[in-house]
Amino acid sequence: MKTATTSEPRKRQEELGQFLTAAPVADFMASMFGPLPGVVRLLDAGAGAGALTSAFVSRLCERDGGVRAVEATLYELDPLILDALSATMRECQRLCTEAGIRFAFTIHPADFIQEMSARLAGDLFGATPPSFDAAIANPPYRKISSDSAERRALRSVGVETSNLYTGFIALIQRLLVPGGQLVGITPRSFCNGPYFRPFREDFLNHLELRRLHVFESRKAAFREDSVLQENIIFHAVKGRNQPREMVISSSSGEHGDVIAETVFPFVEVVRPHDAEKFIHIPSAPSHATAKKTMDGLSSSLASLGVTVSTGRVVDFRLKDALRKEPERGTVPLLYPCHFNGGTVHWPKHEARKPNAILDNDETRRWLVPSGVYLLTKRFTSKEERRRLVACMFDPEQVKAKWVGFENHLNYFHASGHGLERSLAVGLYVFLNSTVVDQYFRRFSGHTQVNATDLRTLAYPDRDTLQSMGRAMKALDHSQEEIDQLVTKHLHACR
Ligand SMILES: C[S@@+](CC[C@H](N)C(=O)[O-])C[C@H]1O[C@@H](n2cnc3c(N)ncnc32)[C@H](O)[C@@H]1O
Repeated sequence: MKTATTSEPRKRQEELGQFLTAAPVADFMASMFGPLPGVVRLLDAGAGAGALTSAFVSRLCERDGGVRAVEATLYELDPLILDALSATMRECQRLCTEAGIRFAFTIHPADFIQEMSARLAGDLFGATPPSFDAAIANPPYRKISSDSAERRALRSVGVETSNLYTGFIALIQRLLVPGGQLVGITPRSFCNGPYFRPFREDFLNHLELRRLHVFESRKAAFREDSVLQENIIFHAVKGRNQPREMVISSSSGEHGDVIAETVFPFVEVVRPHDAEKFIHIPSAPSHATAKKTMDGLSSSLASLGVTVSTGRVVDFRLKDALRKEPERGTVPLLYPCHFNGGTVHWPKHEARKPNAILDNDETRRWLVPSGVYLLTKRFTSKEERRRLVACMFDPEQVKAKWVGFENHLNYFHASGHGLERSLAVGLYVFLNSTVVDQYFRRFSGHTQVNATDLRTLAYPDRDTLQSMGRAMKALDHSQEEIDQLVTKHLHACR
């Protein structure tokens, strides 16, 4: 089949993770650097057409910050953009000469990951890794599989990460001198989720966070993905002592918008006893209210005797056992498409997904005994108002002995069995409330909801959940009614 030539540049761009920074964003990033040494060794890894170095240099030339010289090192893999990069560097040179600053640059048309990993690991004879005083980065964004060349290279220097952008940041961090500064724009996905945990630990152990900036507008996300992905900008300094306070700022992402800044204690951004090291970004006033409410809760899921797991039926592995319609020898199979407000609508004949799965020796271990379960979607769509969408699986409505929950769902259970009804309804009310949604948005910038995220939340105690559950007669309440119920019961338990 002939592929349309118009999609070729786009495909290439995606393979390279090439999304160039707009000039106002690049200038904003450059404005975040603190005082710099007289001679600045600057790193721009994944330089593209040089927008970031150009913004950095323009800022230096505009004011007298005592910088006498800039030695820029640029890495860029795409041969088609190198001419534009050279032209930008020559323009930087011209600007610097006018401002009385010496400017030297070296463009490496090479793979930053491969080359720097080898140099840091000492694999390249005589080629010690360079050191930098400052780095500015918009690294490429692409998943890297565990047997890829990039993963192997990163592993050789002790970096275990599943995305190119975190690989870039981990290497850049290693190349900074103590006190060296990094301003980066990246997806927000590293702030939570189990896959990025080793990266977060590495990052927070070696970089002191000084400032975080989030964009509120989805239009500002220049990396269009199948799931909503917010971008953040961070300013960090190589060192081991996190500050007592840091600046969190936000803007709409539109041109010329107002930037709102607030100072937060660092312990509100990364909680001291959080083993997951989630990075919370309280950008909206409603986030602060949500945090206050959540801080008043002291139960964990474990203390409630409840577990949350990812649905066990991975459909493509059990293809032969799936059935479009229920038939003899099958049991219900639930997907997010079966969510219908607060309860499930099953079977759904018009759905493209199968409604049933064979119940036999092979499939039984992926099924759960029927009971009251609370389900949440693992991926919400951009259009949904809330990130967390919970619904009840009620055995009174769907009669069966066993049931299958597909992998795109998380389910709450008691040691593999159903939950006590009023507790399940209480959890339903709590997880569908605005307060939990707002709290969730402090640490999650995407539409994915991991079981770990749900496990780390604080919950009301059992009595409060049960009385909330008993007060909820039917599961068709409006958002306002759910929120009122939560507010009333959480205040009553104080
Ligand atoms: C997100 S773009 C950003 C470009 C530029 N820094 C900017 O902000 O406009 C990332 C750049 O990294 C380059 N790139 C991708 N993989 C690379 C690698 N392994 N080594 C060096 N550059 C790479 C891409 O070609 C792309 O130009």
